[in-house]
This record gives sequence, structure tokens and C-alpha cells, in this order.
Amino acid sequence: MRMVDLIEKKRNGLPHSKEEIEFIIEGYSNDTIPDYQISAWAMAIFFKDMTQDERAFLTDAIVQSGDTIDLSAIQGVKVDKHSTGGVGDTTTLVLAPLVASVGVPVAKMSGRGLGHTGGTIDKLEAIPGFSVEISNQRFIDLVNTNKAAVIGQTQNLTPADKKLYGLRDVTATVNSIPLIASSIMSKKIASGADAIVLDVKTGAGAFMKELSESKELAEAMVRIGNNLGRQTSAVISDMSQPLGYMIGNALEVKEAIDTLKGNGPEDLTELCMTLGSHMIVLAKKAETLAEAKEMLQEAVASGKALEHFKLFIESQNGDSSVIDDPERLPTAEYKVDILSENDGFVSGIVADQIGTAAMLLGAGRATKTSVIDLAVGIELKKKIGDKVKTGEPIATIYANQEDIEASKQKILSSYEITSTEVKAPTLIYDVIS
Ligand code: URA
Ligand code: CA
Repeated sequence: MRMVDLIEKKRNGLPHSKEEIEFIIEGYSNDTIPDYQISAWAMAIFFKDMTQDERAFLTDAIVQSGDTIDLSAIQGVKVDKHSTGGVGDTTTLVLAPLVASVGVPVAKMSGRGLGHTGGTIDKLEAIPGFSVEISNQRFIDLVNTNKAAVIGQTQNLTPADKKLYGLRDVTATVNSIPLIASSIMSKKIASGADAIVLDVKTGAGAFMKELSESKELAEAMVRIGNNLGRQTSAVISDMSQPLGYMIGNALEVKEAIDTLKGNGPEDLTELCMTLGSHMIVLAKKAETLAEAKEMLQEAVASGKALEHFKLFIESQNGDSSVIDDPERLPTAEYKVDILSENDGFVSGIVADQIGTAAMLLGAGRATKTSVIDLAVGIELKKKIGDKVKTGEPIATIYANQEDIEASKQKILSSYEITSTEVKAPTLIYDVIS
């Protein structure tokens, strides 16, 4: 096979065979096919798309480019959850103990990564003592006994995705449904999930701003998952504003604790209940979504979910007294209210700009070597639909630096305020299974 012929084939809109896709991904991985040919091929995919079969072949070839994790020593159906591009995604922190408390095993392999706030691991490390540096055996034992554990990513997962994603980033080929869908699904499949629940965001702060595109991406991922033998469901949820009120590492831990206590923000609670119900049904712990949701509501009301969070923290050496006393989490030196410059109703809060505002305070990594400040972040005081007066706080900055001007300006410009009344947005747009 010659790569130039395969580029021409895709350029002409013809589908590749499984062998052709394996040839391309293997060749790219071992450097026998150069970046420039892969760039041309990715651009051809951008314009000519891929069939369902090609998407599954590509995902599988990316999975095969590295290690895969064998979770077969864990009893039960391992269900993983993935959110696409939310800001301050507190759902994982809530969902892990919540679904574990009703008996669904949560074996979470997490990274740190770049972003507005840290990854799940950084957030958990805001809990004093919490450690993700555990052996594979301890990880598996913990999931079997406690149903939940988190381990730092050490294995060499999907190296072809890392290489391809980096190349797409500089060749204007990120925004292609078959390439995004195979990239995301390859990582979930390589980490050993039996079943996958996807939270696909839509709206101004999301990767996909239009509902139709978000649906297309969700359908593409669900088909890939099912095609490769992993039961997959997707929920399409709103990102026309950040979820919940908190954006920042320790702040999100606190918000997760509130939510597990039943006092969380309405939108975060509702989304966790929805995603959690899908996880329970895929794990075959309930027949219907309604039954699953009842189980989750009971787990929160009875305190079982919170107890499970305590157990999960303690078994990874964390200080579980943060649950009763969140003041023990890292706290910032300065707390500054950001005041509205207009009267009216909040009509939009551009989530990725709020995310940038949090990153400017040190809540996330701008580069791989940046050090995260776990204490800092932003609390939203007003959300879409809320009435606001000039001089009233719309958000609070938690900072360890005196100069917060850049972050403040980002927050002010991310809030859209109109004079006419606005309804709170729909939270869940669609479900695909
Ligand atoms: N996130 C990913 O992991 N991959 C993509 O291609 C896009 C977003
Ligand atoms: Ca949040």
C-alpha cells in the first residue's frame, strides 16, 4: 500500500478498508508515514467524512496503537462517563461516589492535562492527603471492595491519538466529527470501559455550539461504541453557561460535597441524576431510568452517597473530615465580589471565558509545566434568567494574588445582560442510546 494512493482515495470520497486504516495508523505511529501525508489525509476526511465502519476501524486502530487496560479482575459492568468540553466539570466528583454507593463499579483512570481548571486528579488532590499514586493491584482491590477508586494515568494509552490530535490542532482539522468521535472513544475504550455514558455539551461554551452538531457528534460516538461492543448512551446537555456555581479545584470539591448532601445547585444535581441513571441502567443495576433515578435520590437522601464519598477518600489516604468541615480544604487569601455594570436579566455566561478567567487566577494549567493553585477560582452569583441590578455581585473571585484585573474583565465580558426577561435554559436537550 502507498499512502499517496490512500490520500487520493479519501480525497475522492471513497471509503477505506480496515486494513487500509490500520496501515495508516501503524505507519503514522512508527514514523514510516510522515506528518505531511497525515495532514493531507485528515483534511480529506474533514471534507469527505467517513462511513460508520471507517469510524469504528479508526477508533480501533488508535486503541491498538498503545496499551489497553484490563479491568476484567473487577466484578460487574464497568461504566465510564465522559463529558465533552465543560467548564469546571464537577459531575465526575459527584458521580463516582454516587453511583458507587448503589453498587456500580467506578474504576477511574484520570489525567491532569491542560485546561481551565485541573483534571479530576487535581481536584481530588485538593483534599489533604488524597493520593492517586496507588498500584494497579490496589486500584483493582479498592474497586472490588469499595466500588470506587481513582488512579493516575501511567500507562501508554492511545499514543496515536496524542500524535494525531497535535497535528490536527495545527492543520485546522480538529473540528471534524469522525476525527473527534474516534479520538474521544479510543481513549474510553483503551481505559477498559465495558459501557460508556457520554455527556455531550452544546451551546456557547461548548466545543459544538449548535444543537444539530452536538447531536451529530453524540450519534457518531454512540455508534462507534456499539460497533466496538461497548454499550454507549449519550446525553446532550446545556453549556450556554457553566454548570453549577463553582469553577476551581477546591471550590468544586466543596460543591460536590454539597451536592452529595442534597444541597447542590439545581442544574448540577439534575445532570448528575440523569447521567448516573444511564450509568446504572448500562451496569444492569436497574431496568429503567426512572427506577435508577429513584435509587440515586434515595442514596442522597439517606446519606449513603455521602458515606461512600467518605470511604472513597479514606481508602486513598485523604482527610475525610473535609466533608463535615469544608474549611479544611485549601482556601484563598482574597475574596473579591465582581459587581454588575448594568441593570437587567442575565441572558448568557460564556463558559469558556469564565474558564479562562479561572485559569488566569491559577486554577488551571496554561502549559504542561504550570503549577495549579488548588484554592483559587470563581463562584458565580447570578445565572441565566436571574435579575441583576447595577452594583450587585454577579460573581466572586477567590485569589491568592492582588492583581485580579484581567480575570475580572473576562468575567464582566462573559456575562450578557439584556433588558427583557429571560427564561432559564433547558438543561437536557436530548438522549441518544
Ligand atoms: N477532545 C478529544 O479528546 N479529541 C478531539 O478530537 C476533540 C476533543
Ligand atoms: Ca461547577
